[in-house]
Amino acid sequence: MDKLVIDGGHRLSGTIKVSGAKNAALPLIASSLMCGGTLRLTNVPWLADTLSMITLVKHLGVQPQIKGDEISITGEANVLDAPYEQVRKMRASILVLGPLLARYGRVKVSLPGGCAIGTRPVDLHIWAMQQLGAIVEVADGYIEARCRRGLIGAKIVFPFVSVGATENTMMAAALATGITQIINAAREPEVVDLGNCLNAMGAKISGHGTDNIVIEGVKNLSSANHHVIADRIEAGTFAIAAAITQGDLTLTNMDPVYLDALFAVLERTGATIQMGENWVRVLSSSRSKPIDIATQPYPGFPTDLQAQYMSLMAVADGSSKISETIFENRFMHVPELMRMSSDIQIDGRSCIVHGKASLKPAPVMATDLRASVCLVLAALATKGKTTISRIYHLDRGYANLEEKLNKCGAKIQRQIG
Ligand code: UD1
Repeated sequence: MDKLVIDGGHRLSGTIKVSGAKNAALPLIASSLMCGGTLRLTNVPWLADTLSMITLVKHLGVQPQIKGDEISITGEANVLDAPYEQVRKMRASILVLGPLLARYGRVKVSLPGGCAIGTRPVDLHIWAMQQLGAIVEVADGYIEARCRRGLIGAKIVFPFVSVGATENTMMAAALATGITQIINAAREPEVVDLGNCLNAMGAKISGHGTDNIVIEGVKNLSSANHHVIADRIEAGTFAIAAAITQGDLTLTNMDPVYLDALFAVLERTGATIQMGENWVRVLSSSRSKPIDIATQPYPGFPTDLQAQYMSLMAVADGSSKISETIFENRFMHVPELMRMSSDIQIDGRSCIVHGKASLKPAPVMATDLRASVCLVLAALATKGKTTISRIYHLDRGYANLEEKLNKCGAKIQRQIG
């Protein structure tokens, strides 16, 4: 298995172009299953997860054609069964449920795998399909859903916010008969991007970006071109890299508005943030001040940046509290950060992080996608060589990470194993 060896303690400076958003690209590729013509996506990030989703839709029968950061997907699904082998690698595979059910009237999808950050059930996805009139059975690790005469629009009130369940419901309802209203919908920019792409294909969706989405079902969807939004989590990770190395990074090709919550916190830690329409510059010249955070659905502080922020707080000038409200088991990076001599106490769904002037290099292991990159950040800030193993998690969500950071002064080497 590949490892990263990071010779840390170097200030990062330079410009990084942010890639397209993984979490937008995955549902968009799934939505191609509903398209009667060709869906052409640009700014697609080339990641292990994107390739998994492409392999999955290909298995279902559609024809993806890839050229640079563009993918064109055409054709009818002739297989309605997403097997465990295809689905286990990535939880987002569940996003084929709504499209196949809505367009073909039946689907069988394996219960998903993905990052081990809690139990992460898919009960809301299943429940929402039932609200739209589907008959759903869960047996032997598979979800089987069918509807005789198509899905029927309904009022769906989610008990809590789920990004994936909102996306699956929005896709399914786009081809249902009548009107669907999703209340307590996720407001994440990736949900908005999906709504915009579905509308470009001919769907009638309004209110995406608010917690109340209205979908008027249409009979079919047709060809469209769509540019995937920038990856706000990748951008936020680099912003924290600038702060933790007391560096100066400019991030381009991104919309800073999507990271308001992070930038507000980074400013309070002492970083300087400058921004334009599609770029942001993050500068830091001293140790960060300790600032408490609690993760929240968008527009709050993203759970996908909690681990990275914890690395920053591990070297902050004082103690801070980090609370995780979205996932019940998202502190698996803590024991690894502690191997690097950080001082962190877990207390239920919060951590108290006592910042230290410096950490020590140690062999550490990546446990999930964002935990992996938090270890990269900690290593960048730590003098000496840190080795991170099990980095296949990192390759699921970060395109050319070493290249992008090394161009700005990092010393990261990949050992192919
Ligand atoms: C998406 C993101 C992931 C991010 C998460 C929260 C993608 C591909 N992934 O994941 O990077 O960390 O949003 O911003 O976009 N839940 C249930 N039942 C369900 C569905 C969810 O209990 O049926 C729970 C989850 O366990 C979790 C919470 O709801 O505790 C929120 O999860 P959700 O928003 O659904 O996350 P994902 O869509 O899986």
